[in-house]
Amino acid sequence: MVTTAQAKAKYDQLVDRYEDIFFYVADVGKDLVALADPAPGVRVLDVGAGRGAVARAALAKGCAVTAIDASPLMMRRLAEEHPEISASEGDLYRMEFADGSFDLVTAGFVLQVLDDPLAALTEFRRVLAPGGTVALSLERQSVGRLAWFQDLSVEFFAPGGAAEPKAAQPGPMTFDQLDALLVEAGFVDLTRETVELPKPLDGPDDLLAWMMPRGLAEMIAALPPERGAEFRRRFLEGARRMHDDGGIVLEFAATLHRAYYR
Ligand SMILES: C[S@@+](CC[C@H](N)C(=O)[O-])C[C@H]1O[C@@H](n2cnc3c(N)ncnc32)[C@H](O)[C@@H]1O
Repeated sequence: MVTTAQAKAKYDQLVDRYEDIFFYVADVGKDLVALADPAPGVRVLDVGAGRGAVARAALAKGCAVTAIDASPLMMRRLAEEHPEISASEGDLYRMEFADGSFDLVTAGFVLQVLDDPLAALTEFRRVLAPGGTVALSLERQSVGRLAWFQDLSVEFFAPGGAAEPKAAQPGPMTFDQLDALLVEAGFVDLTRETVELPKPLDGPDDLLAWMMPRGLAEMIAALPPERGAEFRRRFLEGARRMHDDGGIVLEFAATLHRAYYR
């Protein structure tokens, strides 16, 4: 969970690599816009737009697209790449748009990172015109066959390692929780779809190569050298077992949520 200030710092840093690391956001952005199905000319606000996965898809449909994000660097990049999109830095909890300014509000993979998703949805509703649509995507978190990696990460990277009891943490938002929040915020006629995004990899070395630029390299670098080498050895052992036991497939999935403000 991030505050607006934390989002600004975190996503500014990711501006160059964001859509390489999160390889699926562009496809899910198109799926989300397809679910909302806006007509050309519809006024769309893409909140937490990042590099514009959803905003670009709405633009391709001929919509009049506005985008906001806490990260000024993300917004600067989006404006450079797509001058037709009105992109600006902004706090999604206090948007500078008049009530009822948009026909469709989208937010791709945003609600799951927020401290106060209900306040966000209430603000989305405020800027929607009556009859307007909200369309959201949510990452479905499932450890699945990577449980060995999670255990290894706790052992090597959690403070106190596996010996220390884990602090109680709220789990990731579920699709039922997001639907309940939509209802609580006053949205009606909810629809939900699931998108499966499996990513098959060739073998243990590929899995390591895939994870290194996605944060693992920094985590290993923070360990003493012998411990880092031990982690790599154990990682490759675990990945080899996964490979021999049905192959290495990263099981990404998302849900798409659509609802209306009547
Ligand atoms: C996981 S990224 C999703 C980006 C994009 N929607 C996509 O589908 O690729 C979440 C985005 O929400 C933005 N964000 C988080 N908290 C925010 C806030 N309080 N106000 C505005 N943007 C925020 C982040 O800066 C980040 O770009």
